[in-house]
Amino acid sequence: MNDDRRPAGAFKEELTPEQLLKVIFEFTAKIATADRLESVLILMADMGREMIVADRCAVWLIDEERRELFTVVAHGGGEIRIPYGSGLVGTAISEDQSIIIDDAYEDPRHNSDNDKRTGYRTKAIMTIPFRNNEGRVIGAYQAVNKLTESGVFSDKDMEYLSLAASYSGKSLEAFMLREEIVETQREIIFSMGEIGESRSKETGSHVRRVAQYSYWLALGLGMSEREAALLRDASPMHDIGKVAIPDAILHKPGALTDEEFDQIKGHTLIGHQLLRHSKRELLRAASIVALEHHEKWDGSGYPQRLKGEEIHIYGRITAVADVFDALGSARAYKQAWELDRILALFEAERGRHFDPRVVDSLIAQLPRILEIRDQEAEV
Ligand code: C2E
Ligand code: SIN
Ligand code: SIN
Ligand code: SIN
Ligand code: FE
Ligand code: FE
Repeated sequence: MNDDRRPAGAFKEELTPEQLLKVIFEFTAKIATADRLESVLILMADMGREMIVADRCAVWLIDEERRELFTVVAHGGGEIRIPYGSGLVGTAISEDQSIIIDDAYEDPRHNSDNDKRTGYRTKAIMTIPFRNNEGRVIGAYQAVNKLTESGVFSDKDMEYLSLAASYSGKSLEAFMLREEIVETQREIIFSMGEIGESRSKETGSHVRRVAQYSYWLALGLGMSEREAALLRDASPMHDIGKVAIPDAILHKPGALTDEEFDQIKGHTLIGHQLLRHSKRELLRAASIVALEHHEKWDGSGYPQRLKGEEIHIYGRITAVADVFDALGSARAYKQAWELDRILALFEAERGRHFDPRVVDSLIAQLPRILEIRDQEAEV
């Protein structure tokens, strides 16, 4: 018997099918209610380790922004990061292939730095990439050292870990989408807070109506539910740049001087500046809306005098929603308009201020839009 092998009594047995099912059921239940990414990664790693009787197991994820792979280890180590593409995990992920190795030290792709630091002896390794719902590889399972007598991972282990991996890909994606929403809301609240308290008076119910109008206009144009919902959540931020405009101008009862109006026009660029740094889909959409909601179909709008389809469809839709609502509302400088007068303006401006298709969508969706106007009326 080899000196570096343990006495026979210390070896573990493979799980019976009953034990295996028990492990899967117990862990999937825990994973479904975990509330932190860290806990999800650790639970998944523990599940994989128990299923295949490995000594250690880790779930690695890709950090696209930093071009790194990272994992969280259960017992004390915290987060570990390695460059994208490095080591066996990196190879498995970048080449989208499962790898089984009986002795890591005989494989040049293995990075033994960690062993040198900790004194641990990595021998058998199995690495399996996993995918999100669209089939894109988003991470990998890595199991280290098999605790049964054979000491190596088998095809059976590969099948089991692949099962865990396919489950993990799906639940991780669901978890990260949940995180994304929470994180986005935090970001919005933060940027709103940062830009101060001075806000234009109409903001509250005006933006709620504009959100709903944009959604129905978008659906009327044949946009997908998902994208219409994205625009619905982004369009409330169209006038966020107004927070930087002095109240004395914004709430001026009468007509504006040219200089004052130029200053107000700046709310498009200011809003764009505030939102554009984010990589998040929602805030990117919002930054486009903020920038382009005062462009006009005939090229006479501001700030860039874009024309026709040069104007992002989000800008063209929000323009119709915004003006429809602004005309129907009283402002410091004007009375609310009657519906007939509003519709006459849209007719006259169809193909001038507004994209004709969006005006047609407004007419088609009018019953629903009037319903929203009643529901979301100013109190
Ligand atoms: P807002 O009040 O939210 O109006 C948004 C857009 O709705 C306006 O963009 C304009 O296209 C349309 N709109 C609103 N009220 C009227 C109206 O009485 N007649 C017509 N034909 N269209 C109207 P616009 O013109 O680029 O104005 C941007 C913002 O500038 C306005 O946002 C408002 O905050 C401010 N503003 C515009 N005109 C005046 C004004 O005469 N006095 C004051 N105090 N502010 C004004
Ligand atoms: C590797 O995949 O080679 C690096 C991680 C490890 O030490 O197992
Ligand atoms: C969100 O839906 O994530 C943000 C809510 C909003 O500001 O519309
Ligand atoms: C962006 O910079 O985020 C897009 C602005 C544009 O569409 O012009
Ligand atoms: Fe505006
Ligand atoms: Fe507005």
